[in-house]
This record gives sequence, structure tokens and C-alpha cells, in this order.
Amino acid sequence: KVSDDIQQMLDAHDLLRKFYHHLLVNTKEGQHALEYLLNRGFTLESIKKFQIGYSLNSWDFVSKFLLKRNFTPQILEKAGLIIKRESDDSFFDRFRDRIMFPIFDRNGKTIAFSGRSLGQDEPKYLNSPETAIFNKSKILYNFHLAKPSIRKTSHSVIFEGFADVIAADRADVDNGIATMGTSLTEEHVGILKKIVQTVTICYDSDYAGIEAAYRAGKMLSSAGILVKVAMLSDGLDPDDYIKKYGTEKFRHEVIGSTVTWMSFKFLYFRRGKNLQNEGDRLLYIEEVLKEIGKLSKAVEIDHYLRQLAGEFSLSLDALKQQLQPISKNNK
Ligand code: GTP
Ligand code: MN
Ligand code: MN
Ligand code: MN
Ligand code: MN
Repeated sequence: KVSDDIQQMLDAHDLLRKFYHHLLVNTKEGQHALEYLLNRGFTLESIKKFQIGYSLNSWDFVSKFLLKRNFTPQILEKAGLIIKRESDDSFFDRFRDRIMFPIFDRNGKTIAFSGRSLGQDEPKYLNSPETAIFNKSKILYNFHLAKPSIRKTSHSVIFEGFADVIAADRADVDNGIATMGTSLTEEHVGILKKIVQTVTICYDSDYAGIEAAYRAGKMLSSAGILVKVAMLSDGLDPDDYIKKYGTEKFRHEVIGSTVTWMSFKFLYFRRGKNLQNEGDRLLYIEEVLKEIGKLSKAVEIDHYLRQLAGEFSLSLDALKQQLQPISKNNK
């Protein structure tokens, strides 16, 4: 049985989620936030499905609202919802004037929030701190809603941001998940490994996103998961892409036209290299050969060697020879 403190922290989150959502959808105070979301392409349907809300521009709304309902300040502080002032014994609300994304655990219980600023306020996203009920490195955003679809298809699409998961859902990509703004952890991989065979990585196409996709792909494929990479054009993220090109194009030209993990690595190694330059070209060939050397299926090895030989007009024999000394254990 869960402890009394934990139950109260969960209850507080549950009440607040409902109230934040009500503020966004039904009140004048939340109207500018609702307009912001609708302008960004969020629909009322997804606002409801993901229980998105709005936190008032107030220092003590949460305290007042929950203290009236017999929660103690100690519990609310432990839950990360209010913060103690250093000057005296009073408290203030952590989330103010933000779009509120509730974070659910795998059973659909609200365990944290991430609040997005409406304007240029920093930080852009403010998360609940780690608490007895919220451990960032184990939580995947939207896992509870996506789980049936993931299980059915043994496939999940991983995004960088909440907005991407929600936009993709509009495109009927309902097996999308995201980390909490952090890198993928071994715990996340462990959770996924239990129910997927394949993961499609669909990260932002900016520099940070491509680096993160490379790191995530390495972890997932080391765990024996088949990795595909969905790539976007011109530095867009999935949410921007869908706003610009629509859901149909996203489904078919992004999610429906992935590259294999191996091809992604080849593209990744090309970055910052000028393949007209001999030094860069040799370096690239070496990096690619190292990856091919890790493969175990003869057919695959042959396929990629031929591809490489063709592309750089090299002899297949020379490539095969160079492949030999590379140890299969140096993953
Ligand atoms: P939008 O600008 O609302 O579309 O968000 P985004 O998802 O495109 O954000 P971005 O690509 O910059 O970052 C990806 C994810 O990183 C977000 O969904 C957040 O989870 C997280 N993130 C971004 N900015 C911050 C921040 O300032 N603080 C924290 N803690 N997380 C952030
Ligand atoms: Mn990003
Ligand atoms: Mn983004
Ligand atoms: Mn952005
Ligand atoms: Mn975005």
C-alpha cells in the first residue's frame, strides 16, 4: 500500500491537473494561453487528450487552492508544487503563467508537470523537481497513452519534445513518446526493450538533435532494438514540420520514409566533412568500415562494402582486406 504522503502528493497533482486544465479551457484568465496553443496548431481535441492546462500568473494560487483542501505546505513542497521562501516561512508557487503539461506515470497517474513559458521567459520549459513520485530518468512522456499502440505494433517513435509527441498524435502517430528534456537513459531503454522490437528516432533536425539521435541510436541498438531514423529537413522539429507541411506529409514523408540505423550513421559521419577532400574522404571511409566491421551477417557486410566501393570507386577487394583487422568486439 502506498504511504500516506505519497497518496497525498498524487492527490494534489490530480486536483491541480484538473484545475489547470479548467483554467485553460474555460476561463478568461486562461484565454491568452489557449489562443497561444491554438495558434501553434494544437487542437482542442489534443488539449483535452493530453490534459494540457494553464497556471495562473499568481504567487500563491496553488497554495491557497490546495491548503483550503487540507493539504499541508510540507506535502506540497515535497511534491515540488510550491517553494519555501528563504526570508521567512512562507511559500510561493513553482509554476506561474505557464502552459502546463501534466506528466503521467505508466498507470496514468499525474506525478509531475512541465510548464512552458508563453513568451520569451526563461526557462522555456520548467519541470517539477525530482520527488518521491517523479524520477525523470525513468519517465517517458505519453507512455501510458501510447502503450497499447506500442504493444500492438512492437514499435514506438521517440521525439525530443512534448509538442512533437502531441503534434504527431494529430497525424495519427499514436505510439510517440519523449524523454523529459533529458538524454535517453539506460532505464528508458530498459522500459522500451520490454515492449518494442523497433524504435523510430524522430528528433529535431538541428545540430543538438542530430547529436542526440546518434547517442540514442547507439544505446537502443546496443540493447538489441532495431533502430530507424526519421529525418526532417531544414532544421525543423516534428511540430514545426507538421505546422508547415501538414499531418499527411509527416506521416508519409517523415515517419513513413525512415533510413536504417546504418545509413543514418553514414550520414552522421559525413557531417562537417568535405568528401572532395582526400583526407576527409579517407577518414570517412575508415569510420564507415569500422561500422561495417561490427556487422555479423555476411550479406549485410557485402551490401555495405559494395555500396562504399561504388560510391568512391574503390576495389571491393581492397575494402575487404581493410575490414579484416577490425576487431568485432570493439563496439
Ligand atoms: P517548443 O518550442 O514549445 O516547440 O518546444 P520544443 O519541444 O521544440 O523544445 P526544444 O526542441 O527546444 O527542446 C526539446 C525538449 O527539451 C522540450 O520538450 C523540453 O522537454 C526540453 N527543454 C527545452 N527547453 C528547456 C528548458 O529551458 N528547460 C528544461 N528543463 N527543459 C527544456
Ligand atoms: Mn531541440
Ligand atoms: Mn524542438
Ligand atoms: Mn522550438
Ligand atoms: Mn518545437
